[in-house]
Amino acid sequence: MHTQISKITDLTDNTSLATLFTNSEQLTLASLSSNESGYIKKKLENDDICTLNKYPNILFFGKIEDGKEEHLQIEAARVAGAKLFDVLKADKIKTIQIKNLSDSNFLPAFIEGLLLACYTFDKYKKEKEEYLLDEIKVLDGEISDNKIKELLTLTEAVFYARNLVNEPLSYLTATQFSTEIERMAKEAGFSLEVFNKQKIETLKMGGLLAVNKGSIDPPTFNILEWKPQNATNKKPVVLVGKGVVFDTGGLSLKPTAKSMDFMKSDMAGAAVVAATLYAVAKNNLPVHVVGLIPATDNRPDGNAYAPGDIITMFDGTTVEIMNTDAEGRMILADALSYAKKYSPELVIDIATLTGSAVSIASSHAIVGMGNSEKYIEKIKLTGDETFERIIEVPLWEEFAKPLKSKIADLNNLGSREGQTTIAGKFLEHFTNYNWIHLDAAGVSFLFEKDNYRPEGGTGFGTRLLYNFLKKID
Ligand code: BES
Ligand code: ZN
Ligand code: ZN
Repeated sequence: MHTQISKITDLTDNTSLATLFTNSEQLTLASLSSNESGYIKKKLENDDICTLNKYPNILFFGKIEDGKEEHLQIEAARVAGAKLFDVLKADKIKTIQIKNLSDSNFLPAFIEGLLLACYTFDKYKKEKEEYLLDEIKVLDGEISDNKIKELLTLTEAVFYARNLVNEPLSYLTATQFSTEIERMAKEAGFSLEVFNKQKIETLKMGGLLAVNKGSIDPPTFNILEWKPQNATNKKPVVLVGKGVVFDTGGLSLKPTAKSMDFMKSDMAGAAVVAATLYAVAKNNLPVHVVGLIPATDNRPDGNAYAPGDIITMFDGTTVEIMNTDAEGRMILADALSYAKKYSPELVIDIATLTGSAVSIASSHAIVGMGNSEKYIEKIKLTGDETFERIIEVPLWEEFAKPLKSKIADLNNLGSREGQTTIAGKFLEHFTNYNWIHLDAAGVSFLFEKDNYRPEGGTGFGTRLLYNFLKKID
């Protein structure tokens, strides 16, 4: 994270300034003439941001609508932060003072939006992005040092997740993914164990091995762990992430346009799990968390798994393959079975699992489901607070019926209709603990930037899981 946040005791006139307010009576800056405040009030009747040019500096005003629900106002503050970034970038302004003029504490969200908007992925470009925001100055007393540190590390974690999603298969094979997690583990202080193909064979993780059969690159199974001495939970929370580093569909091949072409993002769930462990460890949260990441690509090849195959999974369940493109559930199922050995308090899996989740929620929300009302309610609330929201769908028994097979315990497809829940029912078969399934297919990768979420990998879910884990006791 390039941007620094520093504390000041007074505002100065020779630096740009950004403010947030809810009503125009709060516009009491000494440096404003009555003409200027008149202009700002008029402008903000129809718009939610406004800038005044005080060359070489600018003044930025963000208006948060009164009377809205609190979490919507907080999100408006994040969005204002993202808009501020665009203004600063356009004028190449590298230092900004920030002041909250409203009665509510919008500052952390405003800064969060600004920081999250600073992301660029220019690793592969000869001409690198020139503009960087150097410094955010905040008034002493408006935000604590701990909150600043937390915002910086959490943003850094989100950036790691975005980078991992943006990395193409030509770089990010399953093995390279493990190397990247290793780097994050060393930097943040969590531990990592990587099972190689031989170990995965010994363990008989049949789902992961089946998906990997068409690949020339070996799979990995990654175990990330943060176990602080002051953990408040006796039994760990286990996070499971789908780590399909590229999904061609396998022999049930996907068409290229708008289907296979962005499938380097099919490991976004795994990226979020790694990033969450990074943020949890770096911010020293007193919570015992384990991350499980099965990783492989899914390809057609002479030896690829085929429709009709019957696969024996890690827990002994047999699965008749009806479609090799329903590969995510195959590798997740093995990880969910493996999670049993931790006697977990709760398991949350996050995965770009079904196209139907995009139909349900577009890019606005994760589709969530689970068997623990208490934890589902808790995570939905965190979803509102972080604006990484969750639409819940019920796991009715009827959705399991299409997964029956005449010649095996299950089939891996079910029917196209109701697919998001059917995939959830498939996963549920491999659980015997409190469990939440998050289908992030619609939110993980954007074709167009959306305020503080960039085009490409979004890291969506990292702030959700981090803030959820903060509340575990
Ligand atoms: N990785 C895809 C799901 C996906 C779709 C993620 C769009 C992100 C955006 C998954 O492996 C898949 O192919 N799912 C199939 C399942 C079907 C064959 C039952 C789907 O949803 O079409
Ligand atoms: Zn697939
Ligand atoms: Zn997939």
